[in-house]
Amino acid sequence: MRIGILTAGGDCPGINAAIRGVGKTAILEYGMEVIGISSGFLGLINEEYVQLDENVLSGILTLGGTILGTSRENPFKKNNTFNAIDKPKLIKKHYQELGLDALVCIGGNGTQRTAAQLSEVGLNVIGIPKTIDNDVYGTDVTFGFDSALWIATEAIDRLHTTANSHKRIMVIEVMGHHAGWLALYSGMASGGDVILLPEINFDIHMVARCLKKRAINKKPYSIVVVAEGIATPKGESAARYVANNIKELTGLETRETILGYIQRGGSPSPMDRVLATRYGAYAVELIAMKRFGEMVALKGDAVTSVSLADVGGKLRLVPETHPLIEKARRMGVCFGKESC
Ligand code: F6P
Repeated sequence: MRIGILTAGGDCPGINAAIRGVGKTAILEYGMEVIGISSGFLGLINEEYVQLDENVLSGILTLGGTILGTSRENPFKKNNTFNAIDKPKLIKKHYQELGLDALVCIGGNGTQRTAAQLSEVGLNVIGIPKTIDNDVYGTDVTFGFDSALWIATEAIDRLHTTANSHKRIMVIEVMGHHAGWLALYSGMASGGDVILLPEINFDIHMVARCLKKRAINKKPYSIVVVAEGIATPKGESAARYVANNIKELTGLETRETILGYIQRGGSPSPMDRVLATRYGAYAVELIAMKRFGEMVALKGDAVTSVSLADVGGKLRLVPETHPLIEKARRMGVCFGKESC
């Protein structure tokens, strides 16, 4: 068999581990040929390919980013043509010309939706979920999340010491798009006093009240972790909006930090290396069994799969009833809703 593999959407640590998992299993276990497609779906439009042999796949397990490159190209966007040809048609044509028996799409929500659409038009597609946001529907975890969690936690740990020295309030904005997974987990891992998530409507006055109370109770400093996706008026950055309002409402010295792309860069954590490898290997098992139109997923401890048709276009958000939120509230963490 000849299989293609592409990486699309925002990058994250662990993608190369997944490429290696797919490639080595395909070549060594099944004698398949593996073609890397450059820059996500754009590579199938522009016909940019690279042969992935054992040499190319060696030494990439620990590498951040993606050796194939990525893009946010969505071929199914309305009126999306290349040289006047409909992009999905072009992709199908190039897939056939390449002689592919299957296509592995490594990506987040947008990628899985495109994968589902390509599957509908007759391509043999397998999805592998990745993203630091951990918001892909149908799987308990995406790889990339654990690495980003380590980075964000380490950064917030460092902000504790400088906050303490200066008796300041530190507002830290973490990524996550519309989901609050990274904010919730990094906030809890680093002992955040206030955690604001897109999934929980917050009242900035409640947040200010909680921080004032901490100051009155002689807490020298406070840590406020905010998800980038929280609602702010006028599209202001989450950290800027929260920090400015805290300053105004409490009069306490406040600083903001936006962690940004640091969360997506560098070497994957050991957990992400293992998860990405398991996902990659299982994607090839599915291909060998000719079970196409599926996305690899983790359910509990087991790697399994779900239908791409059920996944495409859906988000996995933090439920307000999440047990970690309940535990946090009992320990006095403020989510900006309850009065403290
Ligand atoms: O999906 C990963 C992510 O890093 C989000 O957390 C963030 O909102 C977005 O990508 C940033 O996208 P871009 O790379 O296009 O700036």
